[in-house]
Amino acid sequence: MSDHRPTTETTTDEADVVDLLLRQHALIRDLFDEVETGGDRAGAFRRLVRMLAVHETAEEEIVHPVARRVLDGGEDVIDERLAEEHEAKEMLDRLDQLGPDDPEFDKNLQVLRAAVLAHARSEERYEFTLLRALTNEAERRSMTLGVKAAEAMAPTRPHPGVESATANVLLGPPVAIMDRTRDLIRKAMGTDG
Ligand SMILES: [Fe+2]
Ligand SMILES: [Fe+2]
Repeated sequence: MSDHRPTTETTTDEADVVDLLLRQHALIRDLFDEVETGGDRAGAFRRLVRMLAVHETAEEEIVHPVARRVLDGGEDVIDERLAEEHEAKEMLDRLDQLGPDDPEFDKNLQVLRAAVLAHARSEERYEFTLLRALTNEAERRSMTLGVKAAEAMAPTRPHPGVESATANVLLGPPVAIMDRTRDLIRKAMGTDG
């Protein structure tokens, strides 16, 4: 898996990690809409799983550790966010096992959606704003690189070249996707030892 490199999808102009994360939160909201109302629910759900796996893993590996260090009361704030992320992953796994055709899927999707969006609001309110104020440009640039490298693995739209290059990373249950994403982020950040 060492041949994974950031692709053209990562060369956006967003230099600030907070802007990047806010855009991902908006994408996640859109993907929930698509799973609920779109024609290709199974495909939209796969894209939602990828986006959530990549987003939450990037936060856990790259963003939360910095916030834990620089925020006043960072330990408590980040412990709460990690507990929410853990809960969301379990819900995501349950949903993945059910699949969109199961009669229980919609009810479970609503619960996950509410939890994920409340979690994102808490991050925006208690973490991201302060992170922007309390970090310097070099710190934010380094976080941006890691988040973009992770994002390159989760195309939210069908994209032939990227799909085939990332196929192995993105197959399987959410937990497996997250584990592989974590490995790739650590490689990109040079923290894989
Ligand atoms: Fe998060
Ligand atoms: Fe988030």
